[in-house]
Amino acid sequence: MSVYMNNAATTWPKPEPVARAMYDFLASGGANLARGSASRRDLETMDLVGDVRERLARFFGGHEKGDPRYVTFSLNVTEALNVIFRGFLRPGMAVVTTSMEHNAVVRPLRRLEEEGTSLTILPCDPRGRLDPSLLRERLREGADLFVLSHASNLCGTVQDLEAVAEICRDASVPLVVDAAQTAGLLPLDAAALDVAALCFTGHKGLMGPQGTGGIVWRPDFARACRPLVDGGTGSRSHEERQPDMLPDKFESGTPNLPGLAGLRAALIWLEKEGVASIRRHEEVLGSRLLEGLRALPGATLYGLEGTEGRLPVFALNLASMDNGTLAAELTDRWEIESRPGLHCAPLAHRTLGSFPQGALRLSPGYFTEEAEIDLCLEGLSELAR
Ligand SMILES: Cc1ncc(COP(=O)(O)O)c(C=O)c1O
Repeated sequence: MSVYMNNAATTWPKPEPVARAMYDFLASGGANLARGSASRRDLETMDLVGDVRERLARFFGGHEKGDPRYVTFSLNVTEALNVIFRGFLRPGMAVVTTSMEHNAVVRPLRRLEEEGTSLTILPCDPRGRLDPSLLRERLREGADLFVLSHASNLCGTVQDLEAVAEICRDASVPLVVDAAQTAGLLPLDAAALDVAALCFTGHKGLMGPQGTGGIVWRPDFARACRPLVDGGTGSRSHEERQPDMLPDKFESGTPNLPGLAGLRAALIWLEKEGVASIRRHEEVLGSRLLEGLRALPGATLYGLEGTEGRLPVFALNLASMDNGTLAAELTDRWEIESRPGLHCAPLAHRTLGSFPQGALRLSPGYFTEEAEIDLCLEGLSELAR
């Protein structure tokens, strides 16, 4: 059995009920959504999608007292971010983000910049932290949108979301949060933070299948965004124009229904386990790994030095070999799965000082065992020597 240290890419294994729910949907449910005759299967599919929407609205502290209409589905967080950027930003508008963002943020914003949107990238410190006072200063000059990754996919640094949200609220600038790494691991309350759009992906900390994700919208911001995709919604079929009501406005075409069945099972599992207890468990694993990494000869560790203010996502280089060879050796000799390179985050690597060589990323997850952490450390110390 391999040792999986790549949970920041996608969590694995998934809780057992996830795959079963997907199989059951295809084997015995399997109707399309709102595109049938109100048969038992049609109604069950509508109930399934309604239920996962309600659970997500509750889970993320949805707006309007958790109104599920303000949760819309997408394929992943990348698509969710594109829906917002394309739907909200116009030439002449100003968007602000940070130097710790994933390419899911940077690339679509660079394209919009070419089309006339102004883009400011605020520098983070070499540990990956944004100083909120830089944001306050920048927003005084005026901006239309601020986009922030809640935590780095490279070194796990968590941003001070409360401070950032307060600054955005004071400046009346809509805040978009990329919660790819934190959803399911840290508590998030979109309404309390007044987040305009909280974007999540289903296959990481939420423990669901790939091909699921979405947005928790603040109602006024949802009204201000145009949909990225127009088309059939199964509703208001007499109208040739896209409905304005949510969630239909942002959900054209048949959704990933088996995926949503899996995501629903994952959310039920998460509700039972509890975000706080998952976090505590992962912190224990993270401390054990970090302690061992610190003791490796010739190791450079990136990001925060301790376990405070971070997720258990660690990036390092060894003096003895490049990170690509290191990852291959770990796999070939100990069946340890990690991720070398630049992690779709070249700006973040520049910020941490690991560009262009990149780093080896190790990310244990909820199902990682302490013995697996120890094996990983044994392998690394042999390779370090
Ligand atoms: C911070 C961050 N943003 C965006 C993404 C993109 O996620 P997805 O591929 O699910 O769209 C990731 C995934 O690695 C991420 O860690």
